Amino acid sequence: MYSEKVMDHFTNPRNVGELENASGVGTVGNAKCGDIMRIYLDVDDNQIIRDVKFKTFGCGAAVATSSMATELVKGKTIYEALQVTNKAVMEALDGLPPVKVHCSLLAEEAIHAALWDYATKNNIEIPGLDKPVNDISEHEEEEEY
Ligand code: FES
Repeated sequence: MYSEKVMDHFTNPRNVGELENASGVGTVGNAKCGDIMRIYLDVDDNQIIRDVKFKTFGCGAAVATSSMATELVKGKTIYEALQVTNKAVMEALDGLPPVKVHCSLLAEEAIHAALWDYATKNNIEIPGLDKPVNDISEHEEEEEY
């Protein structure tokens, strides 16, 4: 049912954790299942994502897609990171079962929410970036989960 790459990223997820003093933090909720994803970005002065971490209350597919998504945005510029769509992440994982496609949206939206937070804090505009509809960062900021 799951590809080898999905199983690898699920059993050995990359970039799990959090970043102190992150440049951008985004938290999103999955409208379909209620699961939650938070992404931390460390962006340098050249607008390159130097480090990225994630934490989730999500299923295995959410863990695997977030792990792969963090690998794909690391070292990219904030503008390139916007091109890391859930489709690109699923392709990199050799696909997901159709019922699990909504899980992969958590990673994409959490990255967008973190980019949005970075852009807002730095007063810049990232063309093509909108605040994700499932962005719950404002409600989650003070809460630990
Ligand atoms: Fe909720 Fe997969 S079932 S993220």
